[in-house]
Amino acid sequence: MITPLIIANWKMAIDKNGVEAFKADWNSRPPMTGVDVVVAPPAPYLSVVSGLTGVSLCGQTVSENDMGAHTGEIAAAMLSDVGCQYVIVGHSERRQHQGETNAIVAQKAKRAQLAGLTPVVCVGEPSHIRAAGKAASYVRDQVLSSCDDLSDGLVIAYEPVWAIGSGEAASADVASSMHLDIKTALADRYADLRVIYGGSVKPDNCAAFTTAEGVDGLLVGGASLSAESFWNICAAAIGAE
Ligand code: 13P
Repeated sequence: MITPLIIANWKMAIDKNGVEAFKADWNSRPPMTGVDVVVAPPAPYLSVVSGLTGVSLCGQTVSENDMGAHTGEIAAAMLSDVGCQYVIVGHSERRQHQGETNAIVAQKAKRAQLAGLTPVVCVGEPSHIRAAGKAASYVRDQVLSSCDDLSDGLVIAYEPVWAIGSGEAASADVASSMHLDIKTALADRYADLRVIYGGSVKPDNCAAFTTAEGVDGLLVGGASLSAESFWNICAAAIGAE
């Protein structure tokens, strides 16, 4: 059985006081077992988050370049140095606002793996593509182009753009069907692959996803900023809530 993977993506939505409050609250709760719990804080707070009980660290992005003259960028080796095991690449917010193409995302994922990190490659269709009935082929193309030339051991996060931060999560059926398509698309390339769902995941809808076929975990934005809410989501993933 695949161990569920639950990742908190705090984006740029929390300050140091918030991180400290999360940590105090999280560490006062019973430790999680049977689920891989991961937190992706803003990079300046990685060292603060390293004190979270039973939680692995994740970067929110990484440079596609090796170390060198790239002001403001973070090399994969640096994330690894400060204890990260995972890094998110190609989040739709970065594809949209930082111009990250599938080719750039593929390079970032490659850099991550070379530094020993597990890339969490984000894909997902905007609403007009779904309305046109082209979601499956759009996501398949993103997946194949963004995961070119990688080694085994990666995570794909299916995050439909219209579901992110909107309060309108995909249905578990929609997620399940897309996850199974993604697994089929990559079946002959990678054996060690988890496909997780993101987009308006909350404590009250998360179990519908984690029990759906093909869904190996969750990538949680807004509902991961409070320790109570994120703990409840992790507990639901193992049926312990
Ligand atoms: P929300 O859970 O706030 O919709 O964000 C999802 C997301 O983008 C996680 O990467």
